[in-house]
Amino acid sequence: MAGMAPSPAPATVNIKIDGVPYTVPKGANVLDVCLKAGRQNQDYPDQREGGPHYVPHFCWHPGLSISGNCRMCFVKVTTYMKKGDQMVPNTMPTIACNSVVAEGMEIDTRSDEVQKIRAGIMDLELLNHPLDCPECDKAGECRLQDYDYDYGNDHSKFDFKKVDRHIKSLGSKINIWGTRCILCSRCIRVCDEVSGTSELAFVNRGDRSVIDIFPTRPLENELALNTVEVCPVGALKNKDFLYTARVWNLEENAGVCGLCSKGCATRVDSLKGVVKRIMARENVAVNQYWLCDQGRLDFKWVNGDKRFDRPLLKASSGPDKSVSWAKGYAAAAELLQKAATDSANAWALIHASATNEELWLFKKLTQALGITNIAVIAAPDRKPIDLKGFKAPADANANRAGARLVLGVASAEESLTRFIEAAKSSKARHVLVVSGLPHGFEGLSALTEALGQQSVENIVALDFQQGLLTELAQVSLASQTWFETGGSWINADHRLQAFRPALPFGIKGRPVTEILQELLSRVAPQGAPMAAAPAAQAAGAATAVAAPPVTRPRVVLGAAALFDEMAAQVESLKGHSHLSLVRSKGARVEL
Ligand code: SF4
Ligand code: SF4
Ligand code: FES
Repeated sequence: MAGMAPSPAPATVNIKIDGVPYTVPKGANVLDVCLKAGRQNQDYPDQREGGPHYVPHFCWHPGLSISGNCRMCFVKVTTYMKKGDQMVPNTMPTIACNSVVAEGMEIDTRSDEVQKIRAGIMDLELLNHPLDCPECDKAGECRLQDYDYDYGNDHSKFDFKKVDRHIKSLGSKINIWGTRCILCSRCIRVCDEVSGTSELAFVNRGDRSVIDIFPTRPLENELALNTVEVCPVGALKNKDFLYTARVWNLEENAGVCGLCSKGCATRVDSLKGVVKRIMARENVAVNQYWLCDQGRLDFKWVNGDKRFDRPLLKASSGPDKSVSWAKGYAAAAELLQKAATDSANAWALIHASATNEELWLFKKLTQALGITNIAVIAAPDRKPIDLKGFKAPADANANRAGARLVLGVASAEESLTRFIEAAKSSKARHVLVVSGLPHGFEGLSALTEALGQQSVENIVALDFQQGLLTELAQVSLASQTWFETGGSWINADHRLQAFRPALPFGIKGRPVTEILQELLSRVAPQGAPMAAAPAAQAAGAATAVAAPPVTRPRVVLGAAALFDEMAAQVESLKGHSHLSLVRSKGARVEL
């Protein structure tokens, strides 16, 4: 009608997949829709997860442009066209990855005709493939292998010599088995579109085509290992993981990378408690489908031989200085009680990758002890990543924002400088250090120098590995890494993310949250502050030291319960729970 605004086009269309009706976004990719339809988890599934309308595919990837070269994603599509006053069906096989949904579309992913097309494509994919699955590192998670079981013929119709292609190193991190390559071009598109460095290309033609680098330009960019992860077959291999485990023996657990303040979603693959490799997990709001190579390779410290299991007492006469946990806790509590009686000269330090839950307990412990001199240890900056489709900040600390929120320490560097000055002027006689930095105090020589001052009488340390700190400390309590404990972090974009333990059984030591709760129960059994206010102490007033612990806590709270306790009191965290954050992969918070 004249004068009326046209009604907006609907943002969704109604389609049927294998006869099941769905309402999906208008203009959505047919393959993407088929992979997600009928599944609760809307992440891009791999072939092992499948789904009710799973469509096999090699070259399509949700984070890359469409190439449409493998032809494996054939489906049969029926659309309706108006002819006169009749709607006439038009059915044809088509590749799903290069089609978009339309109102009334019917998609067939399962019929015999579709299966037959797939079997034909598998014949072509396997034409020159060596079928060396028993010695291939990809076996067990290879699309070619899995699709062959699902759709392939049981024998090849081709009886001639296969084309040989190169097997070589593409750089310090990656090898290629050209013989296994199915020429899907995913790796080329990662280098063109994600890193933007374009090291890879097809060379030669026809059945001689092979992936290669340009002379003098190895595949060394900071995102290079993403090519290995997207390779659907065993052509590209991560040298670090090669032949270290069979993938079907690996335990896969979700994690969040703590090596910088981006907080990429990861999958930690371990074998009998030993981390073997780190893979990317989808989090569109943070890292999409990618990880930097540091995030994939810098995990050896978790399995490292510097880990220790029992508390260390410097004064112990034993050869390795290790004592029982009961003795370690008692010694630590005694030194902390001493610190509480001299709180003007007492400091408490915690690292900037500690979880919010650890920061929260640290805060409670320092409050109970009356320690107001707080410093945050930040690992030195790393080289930021500024590539075409992936950026990551220089800040190598996972939770600087959390330390600001929970402890109120605006600048970690300034707080640490204050501690260093205090130590140098003999005003830091008692120090509690909660460390957990992957590379210890590397690049923090001023801090180690300060801790080594003669005037620093007592150091109680929590750390997961032995190093300079445990050498200096009177008592060192063996803690765990963030791989072994759950918790939450706030990244550089103020995204609050929670995670569960990626190594649920722990390698060595005890969770920091457990140790801090035990210390808290020993120095302030009723949760009350144990020392008098600093002003009263300065005036020489009697100090209200808490009675020695008579009861131990009956329950050690886990990360989820600690988060709830914290969220009830910290405004920015209200309304969130550990579970909701794990499920939603995080939420932005106002700080
Ligand atoms: S090396 Fe892998 S990702 Fe690259 S084209 Fe070959 S099969 Fe595809
Ligand atoms: S960008 Fe940062 S958080 Fe992401 S994988 Fe790399 S180091 Fe880890
Ligand atoms: S996934 Fe569609 S053609 Fe390769």
